[in-house]
Amino acid sequence: MAYYDEAQFKDWKHAETGAEVLKAQHPEFEMWNQGIHARSGVACADCHMPFKRMGALKISDHHVRSPLLNINRACQTCHKLPEEELKNRVETIQERTFRLRNLAMDALMDLIKDIKNVRETDSTNVSLPVARKYQRTAQFYLDFVEAENSTGFHAPQEAERILGESINFSRMGQVALRKLMTAAQ
Ligand code: HEC
Ligand code: HEC
Repeated sequence: MAYYDEAQFKDWKHAETGAEVLKAQHPEFEMWNQGIHARSGVACADCHMPFKRMGALKISDHHVRSPLLNINRACQTCHKLPEEELKNRVETIQERTFRLRNLAMDALMDLIKDIKNVRETDSTNVSLPVARKYQRTAQFYLDFVEAENSTGFHAPQEAERILGESINFSRMGQVALRKLMTAAQ
């Protein structure tokens, strides 16, 4: 985020608010990197390309897909737990992440609606650039988790942190617009 801000980079301009926004592009590595598996030296291929037997040979599976379709080879080599238990642990993480992701999306939509409103009625309002900056940040944080594809599993606590911060940025953007509205009254 700091890098893109310094470079003043944008992927596109949001049509309704005029905010210069970014597209998070497959940050799986960055997310996994913050999790317990990376800390324990478990790499992408351990879960996504587990070993299988081909006659006398042991090869890595190149059919890269969800490890949940293959818990036996993807997880149970390390975790001596029943398949159902492992699946439940993943699903609990994913459900929690999904709930917070929806809250972050609602918060972002609320901010976008507010910016659009102020832009239409008072386009030179000095809080608009501040609110747009919050939109840019909130949207990137949310997209970072969304575009990461494991719905939080690769690093559950980090995913929740990023979504929590995203919600805060969206609400801060709304507060920035409201402060000025109150001051003008
Ligand atoms: C400890 C096991 C584990 C490790 C290590 C791991 N992943 Fe995953 N990954 C998962 C699980 C579990 C899911 C969720 C699958 C699902 O929801 O069906 C997932 C989902 C994904 C998806 C979405 C796949 C789909 O079918 O929807 C991608 C892409 C992905 N991981 C890439 C990576 C990359 C790249 C790395 C390394 C930087 C990595 N993963 C490391 C277990 C792992
Ligand atoms: C190569 C070994 C290895 C593989 C493969 C592996 N894990 Fe792990 N997993 C670990 C280690 C090591 C830890 C950390 C344990 C600790 O520090 O107590 C861990 C931790 C976990 C945790 C606890 C996470 C937390 O935040 O406390 C869960 C849940 C988990 N693994 C699920 C899975 C699932 C599901 C898969 C398959 C998709 C998988 N693991 C594949 C080695 C592995």
